[in-house]
Amino acid sequence: MKVFVDTAELDEIKEANSWGILDGVTTNPSLIKKAVENRSNVDMKEYIREICRTVEGPISLEVIGLTAEGMVEQAEFLYEEFNPVNDNVVVKIPVNTNSSRSSSGDYEGLKALNKLSGEGIPTNTTLIMKPEQALLAAKAGTQYVSPFAGRIDDFIRSKVGLTRGEDYPKSAYHDSDWLKHSSYINLKDRYDYLEGDDLEDIFSDEEVAEVREKISDAGISSGAEVVASIKQIFSNYDYETEVLAASLRNSRQVREVAEAGTDVATIPFKVMGEMISHHKTEQGIISFSEDVVDEYEGLFG
Ligand code: G3P
Repeated sequence: MKVFVDTAELDEIKEANSWGILDGVTTNPSLIKKAVENRSNVDMKEYIREICRTVEGPISLEVIGLTAEGMVEQAEFLYEEFNPVNDNVVVKIPVNTNSSRSSSGDYEGLKALNKLSGEGIPTNTTLIMKPEQALLAAKAGTQYVSPFAGRIDDFIRSKVGLTRGEDYPKSAYHDSDWLKHSSYINLKDRYDYLEGDDLEDIFSDEEVAEVREKISDAGISSGAEVVASIKQIFSNYDYETEVLAASLRNSRQVREVAEAGTDVATIPFKVMGEMISHHKTEQGIISFSEDVVDEYEGLFG
């Protein structure tokens, strides 16, 4: 599995690069905003050049246009301006741009991907929330698809009434089994007493359907499951498009997308810190340090 860092903070990119684990970088407009908002007079071109110089692997830079024509123009600019620095630019294109700002954007992403693919400009299709979108992006010729695991989890939790920040922190692991179980427990309030794992056997088909609809997004129960499904679909048809798991919020989620066989995981710097640490490792270091005898320490001068 390749490891990218999901940040535009140069210090974080340089630090992660020094660990020898970094295969690339992903940025987006929100990450760029976060990286530069506390700096004054940022020379954006030079800042991006420095990111490209720092890491040998692919650097994703995102367009901001909402039409195919606008996105293609911006992609050509990003590629021509920054790819010569280290031959590693990949342009991020949203899978579709339909929103209150552009109500006819459903196919703009695909059109842009198709055009850029013909021009030989590598693309990373972003804002993938379901496997069907990834399938279309692969057909349109993209090199990477980025399923947003954390945001998919947010959506599923919101369907049972949980709000990020109020009911759970951004970094909280999404336990889809627990969500399913607790949804049945809520349902069982109508009953005096229930126990066991086979709660589905106890309820009517309608009740089960009601819970199923609530705890999934059209049958998908977590972001990691979207990653697994895309991997399966691409493998069915030998597609070369790589799956780049994004919007990862915690260490356990990284493990799940790795188990699903993702080709790349783009990981926030903070989550890398969570991956490397364990309190028993820390305790072990303390006790080893305390147990060093003078004779042994003497070996090292
Ligand atoms: O890789 C996409 C990522 O930057 C979005 O993450 O946590 O804002 O959903 P998040």
